Amino acid sequence: MTLEARRSGYDEATYARLAQDTAAIVARYPEKRSALLPMLHLVQSQDGYVSRDGIAFCAEQLGITAAEVSAVATFYTQYKRHPNGTYTVGVCTNTLCAIMGGDEIFEELSEHLGVGHDETTEDGAITLERVECNAACDYAPVVMVNWEFFDNQTPAGATQLADRLRAGEDVAPTRGAASVCTFKQMSRVLAGFSDGRADEGVGAGGPTLAGLRLAREHDWTAPGGAAPEQADEPTTDAGAAAADGASAVGQEQSSAERTTTTPADATGETPDASKGKQP
Ligand code: FES
Repeated sequence: MTLEARRSGYDEATYARLAQDTAAIVARYPEKRSALLPMLHLVQSQDGYVSRDGIAFCAEQLGITAAEVSAVATFYTQYKRHPNGTYTVGVCTNTLCAIMGGDEIFEELSEHLGVGHDETTEDGAITLERVECNAACDYAPVVMVNWEFFDNQTPAGATQLADRLRAGEDVAPTRGAASVCTFKQMSRVLAGFSDGRADEGVGAGGPTLAGLRLAREHDWTAPGGAAPEQADEPTTDAGAAAADGASAVGQEQSSAERTTTTPADATGETPDASKGKQP
């Protein structure tokens, strides 16, 4: 075993694999130390959290101190300081989701699972979190499982979702990818190693695009901007991205239409029609 591997705490094969991944990550930046954020995801993909070994590895690979690595790892909530569950279930309890039922969902899940915020079930399956906006307010209240969207949730639907995850069943998010990966798999993607699934499914459904639809109906334009109809001919990458979103108008079928797989539907509950519905 090499001296570096012995010092890191990883076995030789693991160390060699992580070092190879590190080289790919570091190559993206002009300065080695700039690679720290994806490096922390990389060690989470190995250990399931930012372990002591992971901190030492990052420090050694990037030529910085363990204290500097720890300072960053403790700043961001996405870096876990203790072993995370296979699935992070994040309940949005920010203002909109909270008043639409997010607080009730969190309380129900917390009682059902017997864990509080940032705590993990005894079987290691689920780490429960309060999340301050999942960036999906148009589908409030929203729950995320390893950053995949589960829209328009209810307390009963969310507890059934948790039960299915703990039972090892496949669950389908309501938008985006067709299935949920594990925390370690997700961490590797966040380290910058694509699993090729980023464009699976439809990200923006009807509620997301309501403003654009209204703008087109009323011929509204942003000051100095192109008319909505002209947005189909982008001249920049940003314009192309906007036009991609625009082209989805009329394609109201997002994964929000995976009605048989949403927890709320599975329980037979009828969400309050006033909640998170299309205008
Ligand atoms: S307030 Fe819940 S997703 Fe934004």
